[in-house]
Amino acid sequence: MPDQLVVLENISRIYEGPNPVNALVNVSASIQQGDFVSIQGVSGSGKSTLLNVLGLLDRPTAGKYILNGLDAMHISERERTDLRCYYIGFVFQSFHLLATRSAVENVELPLYYRGINRKKRKESASKAIEKVNLLHRSASFPATLSGGERQRVAIARALVGSPKLLLCDEPTGSLDKNSSDNILELLEELNETGLTVIIVTHDSAVANRSKRHLYVVEGQLHE
Ligand SMILES: Nc1ncnc2c1ncn2[C@@H]1O[C@H](COP(=O)(O)OP(=O)(O)OP(=O)(O)O)[C@@H](O)[C@H]1O
Ligand SMILES: [Mg+2]
Repeated sequence: MPDQLVVLENISRIYEGPNPVNALVNVSASIQQGDFVSIQGVSGSGKSTLLNVLGLLDRPTAGKYILNGLDAMHISERERTDLRCYYIGFVFQSFHLLATRSAVENVELPLYYRGINRKKRKESASKAIEKVNLLHRSASFPATLSGGERQRVAIARALVGSPKLLLCDEPTGSLDKNSSDNILELLEELNETGLTVIIVTHDSAVANRSKRHLYVVEGQLHE
């Protein structure tokens, strides 16, 4: 298993259009297995663009991206989808849960896309819900859960496929102080079990919980 989970070399991302935007400029970085990294920067600096590149949701314009020893650039869309499915979990500010599914059904979804059978899906989803201390709300629908509880469901959904990399874009941005602390503690616990966590935030109090601090300034990455 390679020591460096993520290697970026001279990544750039230009959003084409009438006024092209250089959202990432020559970004290079290595992130080790088990690290807990925060990425800070002002609005529009390129944080989400970087996270989307890391999460294989977006293809950079140029550069090299090696994920877990695999070239993530010179592969087909199908292979990228597989890599994303197996290696990456996402947590977003606004939870992105399906309103018409219960908590546990939301958590099962990534396994459904992997073609895993119903029984195994149920088992794994229950385990993931238990990890985030929400077993008692498994059958509840997102609308009946608090913001903090919704985010814990989203984290369970991100964890259910045992990813190597957990990418969080402002995971506490919609939460009050208490729920926010609770989510950060959960992310710390997950990191202690060996999960690599990357958290994008513009809040330095949130970033202070990480082991390593990166900053994006006008598309450039600084340590
Ligand atoms: N799909 C897009 N098309 C064109 N420009 C984009 C697109 N997405 C982002 N941008 C531009 O790229 C730059 C970086 O945007 P990005 O969303 O990565 O910033 P951010 O640091 O996440 O900001 P925020 O803190 O507000 O979420 C901004 O100038 C933004 O306007
Ligand atoms: Mg953003």
